[in-house]
Amino acid sequence: MGRAVISQFLNLSTTSPRFPSSLLKGQIKSGFLKKPQQIHPPKLILLQNRTSSRCCCSNAAPSETNDTSASSDSPISSVRKRIVSGVQPTGSVHLGNYLGAIKNWITLQNTYETLFFIVDLHAITLPYEPKQLSEATRSTAAIYLACGVDTSKSSVFVQSHVRAHAELMWLLSAVTPIGWLNKMIQFKEKSRKAGDENVGAGLLTYPVLMASDILLYQSDFVPVGADQKQHMELTRELAERVNYLYGGRKWKKMGGRGGSIFKVPEPLIPPAGARVMSLTDGLSKMSKSDPSDQSRINLLDPKDVIKSKIKRCKTDSLPGLEFDNPDRPECNNLLSVYQLVTGKSKEEVARECHDMNWGTFKPLLTDALINHLHPIQVRYEEIMSDSAYLDRVLLDGASKAADIADATLNNVYQAMGFLRR
Ligand code: AMP
Ligand code: TRP
Repeated sequence: MGRAVISQFLNLSTTSPRFPSSLLKGQIKSGFLKKPQQIHPPKLILLQNRTSSRCCCSNAAPSETNDTSASSDSPISSVRKRIVSGVQPTGSVHLGNYLGAIKNWITLQNTYETLFFIVDLHAITLPYEPKQLSEATRSTAAIYLACGVDTSKSSVFVQSHVRAHAELMWLLSAVTPIGWLNKMIQFKEKSRKAGDENVGAGLLTYPVLMASDILLYQSDFVPVGADQKQHMELTRELAERVNYLYGGRKWKKMGGRGGSIFKVPEPLIPPAGARVMSLTDGLSKMSKSDPSDQSRINLLDPKDVIKSKIKRCKTDSLPGLEFDNPDRPECNNLLSVYQLVTGKSKEEVARECHDMNWGTFKPLLTDALINHLHPIQVRYEEIMSDSAYLDRVLLDGASKAADIADATLNNVYQAMGFLRR
């Protein structure tokens, strides 16, 4: 069953090193990596589409069973493979977050051990309103639950409630070449928008925190949207780098178990919904930071707002409706959204909508969105009205997560040579 679930996401990809060998050479010269001949080029994932509809990759055929190779010291020994993911509590959770990430978590939690966190430490990397942070954190947690994250199957917690995230980040920062961070597209884009000079260092080191979130849990898979591909590549490289620099025999000499310190995780990027586009521009990603609320459908938008946003969204004047025409990005996007919220197949939607015009399709899409989101909105209100319940969920989630995270963190301290208490 695990294979069937994962195969909806994964597509074996070609692998090749992402960072040029000159960069590695530079590090070797400076003595950072002492035994160049032992460096295995990290098994990098390029996440290239090999087929038109699939959009993810793996360098290993995944199976359901967790080999626990890097996590045998964990107090929670799991036979199931482990999955982690998170969303930032900034702005409002939108259809892109839902279709690219959260909706997929719901399927995965039935088969895998899952931990879903609200990444509040990431939310302070751009200017934010302190008064709103804790409310947005609760609201995001409630959205996870309202979307179907089931606390009998998944741990739900707030990133800052598990201290190990920030602590591991510091240790990993010391091992992360700054050149890797400077290459991050999201950093370049966000710092340009924010006005380079005033950008906080946290925006640059953000991917190290994300790597910590993932590596702490010896995660096997990470379900995310396509915009996180590069951060996932960095996470994988960092895991390999730490394993090489401090793992194996070196770790054994420090009194440790030996072997890999971190498991090298794989991204899970869905074949459809990995990049939901803006309603006002089919070439830009739907995003929380777009100043225009008209550009996105928020999960909590009331019916009339959804209706008006779809009514006014950008379309084109070509006849009929079709997927995958590069000249019709809005058309492809809206059909994909329709496909995902109705649960129909791409072929079914292509057939159903082939001869439609926008005037016929838009009300259909509006109804499908409202029907899909309404039950989520009702559950959200229920959960938000019971703050004691939400507190309990987050407390319990953080306690389970901390057990796993602390075991990894202790291993890293040991392998890096710290005096232990
Ligand atoms: P963020 O809002 O940046 O915290 O993103 C949370 C999750 O939603 C990540 O897995 C992102 O990759 C995913 N995501 C964000 N925007 C989109 C989008 N427009 N389409 C698909 N996935 C998205
Ligand atoms: N960086 C992710 C985003 O902005 C959010 C995130 C932080 C995350 N830590 C993570 C996603 C760990 C998956 C796993 O979308």
